[in-house]
Amino acid sequence: MRKLTDAIQNKTATIGIVGLGYVGLPLALAFSEAGFKVLGFDVQQKRADLVNEGSSYITDVGGERLRQAVANNRLAATTEQKRLVEADAVCICVPTPLTKTKDPDLSYVVRESEEICKCLRRGQLVVLESTTYPGTTRHVVLPILESAGLKCGVDFYLAYSPERVDPGNTTHNIRNVPKIVGGIDSESTRLAQLLYSQVAETVVPVSCPEVAEMTKIFENVFRSVNIALVNELAQLCSNMGVSVWEVIAAASTKPFGYMPFYPGLGVGGHCIPLDPYYLASKAREFDFHTRFIELAAEINEQMPYYVVRLILEALNSRGKSLKGAKVLVLGVAYKRDIDDKRESPSLKLIQLLIEKGAKVGYHDPGIQAIEVAGCLLTSVELNKKSLSAADCVVIATDHSCYNMEEVVLHSRLVFDARGPTTGLRGDNIVRLGE
Ligand SMILES: NC(=O)c1ccc[n+]([C@@H]2O[C@H](COP(=O)([O-])OP(=O)(O)OC[C@H]3O[C@@H](n4cnc5c(N)ncnc54)[C@H](O)[C@@H]3O)[C@@H](O)[C@H]2O)c1
Repeated sequence: MRKLTDAIQNKTATIGIVGLGYVGLPLALAFSEAGFKVLGFDVQQKRADLVNEGSSYITDVGGERLRQAVANNRLAATTEQKRLVEADAVCICVPTPLTKTKDPDLSYVVRESEEICKCLRRGQLVVLESTTYPGTTRHVVLPILESAGLKCGVDFYLAYSPERVDPGNTTHNIRNVPKIVGGIDSESTRLAQLLYSQVAETVVPVSCPEVAEMTKIFENVFRSVNIALVNELAQLCSNMGVSVWEVIAAASTKPFGYMPFYPGLGVGGHCIPLDPYYLASKAREFDFHTRFIELAAEINEQMPYYVVRLILEALNSRGKSLKGAKVLVLGVAYKRDIDDKRESPSLKLIQLLIEKGAKVGYHDPGIQAIEVAGCLLTSVELNKKSLSAADCVVIATDHSCYNMEEVVLHSRLVFDARGPTTGLRGDNIVRLGE
């Protein structure tokens, strides 16, 4: 497809990014900074307005960079899906959540494919980026796009390319993380490879979308399983009186064949708690049970219950019951130094503590308010007074702004569920995995 190839190479192509969230907004910015005109689409008017004002609502997207992109007329956002026709390449970055029964909810992908289909024109490239099970691009998106009468590989092009961003990671970004692409046909793969090579140093073509889809889920299953393994080991270490933190530090000295994972309250975010279920659910259609996935989910999802038991015991041993105890939870984001609370196990911990009658408060530098178990909580100030007022301070997320010496110094009891107090001494510290 000469026209699209030329338009990408000479950067005259307009790039449409659908879904301006944690994945879509950084991608939109990357293309605009690479010299393309980018049109972002979102169903939330507020998000489109914020982008057009140059105001960032995603931590990893610097406000100044966004302002520059908008001021240079390289980036604009809209809720008008009919403007999809303006885009030469469209990247779909909409959510892929689970239903209440933990089955894949592809309704966002389906709806967006239908919107694209209404505007689909010859020469357009469509790339699905949302994480999903193998077969989605071919069996869900492709039939919808072709229903308008255009043929993939001839009239338009379709590929899958998983997003691998790691929110909060300042070392790895869109540019230096290799991008996987798998097209429905060789021309779709070639065009997707050309497109992403404008923003990523390395683009890795694979033979088909299914390989690309499976690669993304495999990466997340790998993390989920290893986190579950270390969470199980933490429980055994605790029973045996061995420090899991010291074991991990020692094992990490091995220069090959090992990579460290750390115990905690479980897994959170829009990826690791959800994506494995996409595969587990699809696998059942093939009479296959993904036992590692189920086991890992079981262990990780039990961690908040286990930690509540440990907090209860720690309070008991100090003559205090959990019912009526003041518990201050530090960190509700699902991992350090981000402001994303989606699927955060800290929320589950807070819910369980409230259900057991504890009076729970929390602090998180990036999350002002949460609603848990019907209670609206707002982040409290973190100071000597709030620390010493709590019967137990729980380190749920180890944000780098927390001064652990101060936390230990002023708290009556610290339950460390993430290990940042390792190396500190104090009769008031109880650590997971010790
Ligand atoms: N967050 C991550 O770290 C991460 C990493 C890799 C992959 N992913 C995957 O990327 C996808 C997007 O995740 P996210 O974290 O960016 O989600 P998000 O919720 O932050 O953003 C999604 C955006 O899409 C918008 N949207 C929903 N339906 C739309 C539609 N029909 N048209 C236009 N906009 C629509 C929403 O309003 C929202 O702004 C998911 O499949 C996720 O699994 C996420």
